[in-house]
Amino acid sequence: MNVLKLADVGHAFLGRTVLDTIQLTVEAGELVALVGPSGCGKSTLAHIAAGLIEHRHGHVVRGYRRHAVIFQEPRLMPWATASDNIGLGLVRHHLKGSIRRQKVRAVAERVSLDLHDLEKFPSQLSGGMRQRTAIARALVAEPDFMFFDEPFTALDVALKRRMQDIVIDTVAACGLSGLFITHDLSEAVRIAHRIVVLDRHGRGIVASRTVPFAPGARDDRMVFDTAQGFLTEDRAFAHLNDCDERSLA
Ligand SMILES: Nc1ncnc2c1ncn2[C@@H]1O[C@H](COP(=O)(O)OP(=O)(O)O)[C@@H](O)[C@H]1O
Ligand SMILES: [Mg+2]
Repeated sequence: MNVLKLADVGHAFLGRTVLDTIQLTVEAGELVALVGPSGCGKSTLAHIAAGLIEHRHGHVVRGYRRHAVIFQEPRLMPWATASDNIGLGLVRHHLKGSIRRQKVRAVAERVSLDLHDLEKFPSQLSGGMRQRTAIARALVAEPDFMFFDEPFTALDVALKRRMQDIVIDTVAACGLSGLFITHDLSEAVRIAHRIVVLDRHGRGIVASRTVPFAPGARDDRMVFDTAQGFLTEDRAFAHLNDCDERSLA
């Protein structure tokens, strides 16, 4: 069953085409990684899929109940503690204080934030802790679909891995579906069920590849070999390491 379907979606900013003829589906329980070089339209596509931008052409069909979006920067309120930031995810739920606190603690535990961290303000937390807080804030409202827009790009390698593991575990434990945007193919191979590749200029999805084994059951060697295999043997991935944004104008 599709929980997200983009049919012939296109968009333009100030008359310049950014996305064209995008066909994309996400099945229930599936985490799809969307990869493509910088500037090819990944964020625009995610924002359209999440309804944050109105698209110019095509159709978006959402079959999920509730979604959450995780951005590259955590977007926390600087004046609120981690706990209160997470609780902001529940403001529209009108819950009793004790139930609210219970839910905040449960999601904090899921992303490995301890009680001590919960009382800190964003400026007192490390980059990784801030991103955990943002994920907890997204999870507290119990979404069944998650959009991730390069959430771990700014983190160092060890921390990135830890955060990827949290995503892998959470998707499996909570039965979530999602779209995970990244320009890092190893990250895509590590966490996703399937990888879709956006054309260099956002003119269509040029490939869809199922990654062998379940996320979480892939070891480092397998991730490395699979990513290398895509890059060296699969022409659809050839443009992934292009990074000259000037050529996009
Ligand atoms: N609000 C905007 N107004 C005008 N151009 C934009 C806007 N947002 C993005 N773009 C342009 O659209 C293209 C795709 O951007 P984006 O979706 O952010 O790419 P990616 O996430 O793949 O790096 C880029 O050329 C970018 O400069
Ligand atoms: Mg982007």
